[in-house]
Amino acid sequence: MDRYAVIGNPVSHSLSPAIHAHFAAATGQRLEYTRLQASDFARDATRFFDEGGRGANVTLPFKVDAFNLADTKSDRAARAGAANFLSVARAGLHADNTDGAGLVADLEANLGIELAGASILMLGAGGAARGVVAPLLARSPARLVVANRTVTTAQALAQRFADLGPVEGVALPAIPRGRYDLVINATSTSTRGEALELPAHAIAAGALAYDMAYGAAALPFMERARAGGARASDGLGMLVEQAAESFALWRGVRPPTREILAELRTRAA
Ligand code: ATR
Repeated sequence: MDRYAVIGNPVSHSLSPAIHAHFAAATGQRLEYTRLQASDFARDATRFFDEGGRGANVTLPFKVDAFNLADTKSDRAARAGAANFLSVARAGLHADNTDGAGLVADLEANLGIELAGASILMLGAGGAARGVVAPLLARSPARLVVANRTVTTAQALAQRFADLGPVEGVALPAIPRGRYDLVINATSTSTRGEALELPAHAIAAGALAYDMAYGAAALPFMERARAGGARASDGLGMLVEQAAESFALWRGVRPPTREILAELRTRAA
């Protein structure tokens, strides 16, 4: 049976095995998908593939290591400088990044957001942000403002993607006034349980506030947004959709996501 894994550290709480088991059942694919906690990523991942593993999702803190380990890289992974997807191919180990496609699919297909022409504010300019900027710009938003605690990192990120669309980098306290249709929290504050200081105008009533974290970690950001009259979502849909994109790349068949997303939401509630 073809073997896949999610590789990370820690990885014991990963929902990916349940998601891929659901996809496999729904599409009639026979495969095994397990968790692999790595300490030395290159050594542990190489062993997994030497022992017959066909592909892996890679999560924190190894997305850059995964990118570096691969023999070939997709354009979107190269843009991100990080990979959450590895696949054994004829030319060796192939890296891709399905996080941005997962975010875009969740926003458009599940949450009904029109990204074309939208004003988007992204909070954070680290690895999580870098992974999704190119796919967001590919949807032709009117504007993408990247706001970060360290302004130079936001500016460097904007420069790196400037050829793809209207992206600018600013400091968090200097977020330009104006209406943002969508505010994405890509900082690590949610998962670390830290406060995120934002000017009040950043999240307007009627906007969608989206936290890339999910579950309890995303609640403080979502509650703040709702208190100001915004809609809010956590990143569970992004997790499911990046998994669907990965599954489609490995298996050549696109799995349905609605049912497993609803099931995971019920389980978490
Ligand atoms: P990840 O892979 O989760 O993106 P990362 O690459 O370490 O992790 O990036 C963390 C992001 O969260 C950065 O944009 C960071 O801002 P800095 O570049 O200024 O460090 C942001 N971040 C972390 N803690 C924060 C805090 N307390 N307030 C605001 N932003 C924070």
